[in-house]
Amino acid sequence: MGATGSHFVIPLTHQTSLPQSHLKSPRRALITGISGQDGSYLAEFLLAKGYDVHGVVRRSSNLTRDRLDRISDLPRSNLHYGDVTDASSLMRLVLELEPDEIYNLAAQSHVRVSFDNPGYTVEVGAMGALNVLEAARLLNERRPVRVYQASTSEMFGGAPGTAPQSETTRFHPRSPYGCAKLYAHAQVINYRESYDLFACCGILFNHESPRRGENFVTRKISLGVGRIREGLQEKLCLGNLEARRDWGYAGDFVEAMWLMLQQESPEEYVIATGETHSVREFLEVAFTTAGLDWREHVETDERFFRPAEVDVLLGDASKAAEKLNWRPTTSFESLARMMVEHDRDLAQRERWAQERIAHAGLEK
Ligand SMILES: NC(=O)c1ccc[n+]([C@@H]2O[C@H](COP(=O)([O-])OP(=O)(O)OC[C@H]3O[C@@H](n4cnc5c(N)ncnc54)[C@H](OP(=O)(O)O)[C@@H]3O)[C@@H](O)[C@H]2O)c1
Repeated sequence: MGATGSHFVIPLTHQTSLPQSHLKSPRRALITGISGQDGSYLAEFLLAKGYDVHGVVRRSSNLTRDRLDRISDLPRSNLHYGDVTDASSLMRLVLELEPDEIYNLAAQSHVRVSFDNPGYTVEVGAMGALNVLEAARLLNERRPVRVYQASTSEMFGGAPGTAPQSETTRFHPRSPYGCAKLYAHAQVINYRESYDLFACCGILFNHESPRRGENFVTRKISLGVGRIREGLQEKLCLGNLEARRDWGYAGDFVEAMWLMLQQESPEEYVIATGETHSVREFLEVAFTTAGLDWREHVETDERFFRPAEVDVLLGDASKAAEKLNWRPTTSFESLARMMVEHDRDLAQRERWAQERIAHAGLEK
């Protein structure tokens, strides 16, 4: 896990043999976006529950998939090249594998980037989800399948006076990403009502971890703190420090995804911690953890601001607490510390590597 630079060793298949019978075999799950933060935690969670886990991965020029290191040795893991925008290959994979559960986590998930690449973000987030639903609908005619769709608090848009946001709060997305996710959200409900498909959406508020993408603000901060502490950089450049988010731990949130698919009937659930904190507060905890003062190192840059800001997100997850018996276990402070400790370790290794190279250069 993390940016350790180790190699991806899980065999990739294009072709899967038709399952003989699902009666005696373990439950089978297919995860799109398995190489992402949530996909990797979810895969570990499902494998620990005895699932036969399959994942869709995109072909890339670099085979390193650090987040999947922990599951690479497990015999039941299996990855397949694919892309949610490629409807025919996705359909073939779903019909061949016949999964009991499909978790659609694939997305261009960065909100600021979605303003730069709106078409692509919508293609993956909206049309990709539709392709998953169509494949599931066809499979469902043959045997039952359950679908989880990764919806987001960004669909609420943080309009003033709406916090805390719950399942009944009006949606008002303020980014191409939020709009794409809202389309997918509506299609899930449409497929459920039109085709009697067991499909549901988890409206997840922000969740982070040491596996968070490196250009998301919390991870940018924890990586920055580690590198500043080790003398590898001096400054950290960020956008809006006043944005407030409900930040939870990804490892907690993937359990909620699974719980939603174990219910008698499919419904939407908000998953959140019920606390909101500003980026400034995250900075405070993260820098203090490393014995640093953030004011001496942080600069803001207009380039990192969104064209339309979402000021406050705060989730009300009481429905999930009541019906799923789900509760977050990791506090805001523990989350920030966990990320900083992980990234200090990374920075230390980077410094040692630099020192070794410099030392080797001197000896020549
Ligand atoms: N983390 C949060 O705070 C949060 C909150 C609410 C909702 N969500 C949603 O939850 C899901 C998981 O989030 P995350 O934080 O794990 O995101 P992430 O780390 O950005 O992972 C996204 C995953 O989607 C894959 N992907 C992107 N485009 C694809 C395509 N065209 N076909 C197939 N796979 C594709 C990525 O593959 P590569 O590795 O090849 O890029 C990656 O595995 C996303 O849908 C996200 O929008 C996240």
